[in-house]
Amino acid sequence: MLIAKTIAQLRNELIPQKKQQKIGFVPTMGGLHQGHFSLINDAIKENDMVVVSIFVNPLQFSPKEDLDRYPRQLEKDCQICQELGVNIVFTPTVEEMGINKVGEDSTTTTIVIPPQTMTSVLCGRDRKIFFQGIATILTKLFNIVEPTNAYFGQKDAQQLAIVRRLVKDLNIPVNIKACPIVREDSGLACSSRNQYLTSDEKEKAGILYASLQGAKQAFIKGEKQVTKLIEIVRKKLGSCEGIKIQYVEIVHPQTMIPLEVIEDSGLLAIACYLGKTRLIDNLILQDRKPIIAIDGPAGAGKSTVTRQIAEILGLNFLDTGAMYRAVTWLVMDLGLSLDDENAIENLVSKAKIELIFDEKSEISPVVKVNDIDVTKAIRSEKVTTNVSKIAAMAPVRLFLVKQQQEWGKKGGIVAEGRDIGTNVFPHAELKIFLTASVSERAKRRFKDLESRGELNLDLQGIQDSIEKRDAIDSNRSIAPLKKAPDAIELITDGLTIEEVIQKIIGLYKDKIRTS
Ligand code: PAJ
Repeated sequence: MLIAKTIAQLRNELIPQKKQQKIGFVPTMGGLHQGHFSLINDAIKENDMVVVSIFVNPLQFSPKEDLDRYPRQLEKDCQICQELGVNIVFTPTVEEMGINKVGEDSTTTTIVIPPQTMTSVLCGRDRKIFFQGIATILTKLFNIVEPTNAYFGQKDAQQLAIVRRLVKDLNIPVNIKACPIVREDSGLACSSRNQYLTSDEKEKAGILYASLQGAKQAFIKGEKQVTKLIEIVRKKLGSCEGIKIQYVEIVHPQTMIPLEVIEDSGLLAIACYLGKTRLIDNLILQDRKPIIAIDGPAGAGKSTVTRQIAEILGLNFLDTGAMYRAVTWLVMDLGLSLDDENAIENLVSKAKIELIFDEKSEISPVVKVNDIDVTKAIRSEKVTTNVSKIAAMAPVRLFLVKQQQEWGKKGGIVAEGRDIGTNVFPHAELKIFLTASVSERAKRRFKDLESRGELNLDLQGIQDSIEKRDAIDSNRSIAPLKKAPDAIELITDGLTIEEVIQKIIGLYKDKIRTS
């Protein structure tokens, strides 16, 4: 492991690596604890090399704060990093970072100022320079390290939201990865400042998390009024002698705008003094369970992956394909012509289609049309042959998409298709565009047909037909295959199904934090 004290040293080490390797970056102020370890471990898992910076940033401390007293244990921190498998620890001096703090809170160098709407609440309300100090140092660090991925804790939820906004607004090419809050057994969130607490204070500090949990219980039972939820937290905190509340607030988790009612999700955040130590904690109150949308071309492995992800994560698999199959079955059962769009439109608008998610049943739902159980019947060869024609009819799509959205209101589902992330659930928490090169998909199809005993297979012919189908799917007017701008593209060439599933689950855990 290299300990780089200067930017030049760090760059020398990184430049040869940058060509192909993924660089993970964990910015810290040292005093490393379990919370930091979890960020470092995630970075090690997901990158080829990992840089941890240890720098107590003067720009984010106000004059009366604990800059001089802040826990500094460089030798121990370096040893921890070495043991965890970090490649480079970057430990610059204030001079090396080119910070020139003049007077109380001004500098003679460039400062990055995040939007006031995001900094005037929670930890920014009473600490005017705090987030500009963080935004400035992180902009410098991102430019120095040029990481592929940078890791931040949900513990500092406002910092995380501001950093996401910073890299978006300043076009800094780095993926921001969020990591869940690591807590001690008492519920107290790990923090470098916990070292300041006496053992008596440490015991009391569990009340922060307990108070958040109290509000969460009320929220789950239906309380959506912010004032009421805040009252619950304040009451609980107030019952503990020695706690001085600095703030209890509920804001939108991304924009930081204060909420009055929680419609979808809210960030409940608190800051308290216990003796002289300032402690913060938070949790996200989310009404709707998350949705995962998986889109992509035929043959990328979507349905197998989606089904298994639903099973592993305990979400419902919204089998949109089964709905189109159900309509096809109905059309054929009634003997309607597949070309009679008017009759089919009339039929579908009156049809009662149900996907019944029974906890005892399998992950795939029971499918009913007009109260008839068609779970098995919709898998027949006849339905398989005709379903694409039915699924291409605008009125059928319109009707079924509406119904899918209705089910989506409660969330807790994984859905796959061509337009799930763009059209059906544009607000899905996680959107994946699952794809594979044409040649890879042709090879898979070839193997699949071969295993079913088909003879005289022509790989080039299969490849040509996949190319044609892609072009048709991408250019058709009804539900064209398109990657949503905020979807994560996952190219599955060379990956096993298990590897694809693990990647998506990793992305899910990263995006969806409920603690
Ligand atoms: P520091 O407080 O050292 O935290 C470094 C990172 O560790 C932050 O992303 C923080 O959210 C995360 N972290 C701290 N405690 C955690 C816990 N209990 N669980 C999960 N993650 C936790 O935050 C800073 O430093 C500075 O502001 C910095 C970003 C380095 C800029 O100076």
